[in-house]
Amino acid sequence: MTADHDSLVQSQFGARAHDYVTSAVHAQGADLARIGAMAAQCAPAQALDLGCGGGHVSYAIAAHAARVTACDLSEQMLAAVDAEAARRGIGNIATSRAAAEALPFADGSFDFLACRFSAHHWQNIAAGLSEARRVLRPGAQAVFADVAAPALVAADTHLQAVELLRDGSHVRDYSEGEWRAMLATAGFVVEAVQTARLRMGFADWTARMRTPDTHAAAIRSLQRMASSEVASHFAIEADGSFTLDTLLTEVR
Ligand SMILES: C[S@@+](CC[C@H](N)C(=O)[O-])C[C@H]1O[C@@H](n2cnc3c(N)ncnc32)[C@H](O)[C@@H]1O
Repeated sequence: MTADHDSLVQSQFGARAHDYVTSAVHAQGADLARIGAMAAQCAPAQALDLGCGGGHVSYAIAAHAARVTACDLSEQMLAAVDAEAARRGIGNIATSRAAAEALPFADGSFDFLACRFSAHHWQNIAAGLSEARRVLRPGAQAVFADVAAPALVAADTHLQAVELLRDGSHVRDYSEGEWRAMLATAGFVVEAVQTARLRMGFADWTARMRTPDTHAAAIRSLQRMASSEVASHFAIEADGSFTLDTLLTEVR
């Protein structure tokens, strides 16, 4: 029998928890610095890192918050975050296993929320964003950072195809317009949007998800077949490395 979506996410990520703690793509970046700066400005009593993965957002905001809750579907990711927080001597991060779509927290429990590179895996993003809004105190700040779908429709299709071949738990990288509409529906007001470009080294990008060789070959085939517009949008390199778009959306 095939697994349900959340089980698929857990099996995809659980076995790779350590790789996400050490991943350079996740451990650094201007987006992480911006999330840290937002937390420093808001100095929250209770902060939530939604879809924490290897915990890099939690480590970046822990110095500015009284307490950080690092939340993820994967028990193994949370164990890796507990171990890494202890290794770094950070004592104010608590982990909590939950789906973004059904958070086990009371209304208005947090005064800051950050969610980075997770929402494109959620099976119900409308429910996840509505839960994010519910657990935040009214007027609190939140930030959503993720891979973005390009405006060029053929490039959007190419991105979703290579993402799904790489990782069977991929749902959708949303465009800026989709993010704005979904955030508004959930009750958030967008205050700022920053776009950026992020290079994915093909070997690391596929190794992190243990992409089967047949799928890696299919991705390379799609890249070779791509139109000049798509190849140029993603700056596809000879070894399959490419550069994608990211979006950081600050809301209240
Ligand atoms: C790429 S990792 C996150 C990286 C991390 N936030 C960072 O900045 O380094 C994606 C994480 O989202 C989690 N995830 C996926 N779907 C989820 C859901 N519906 N609810 C909670 N966590 C989810 C996965 O288990 C995985 O750990």
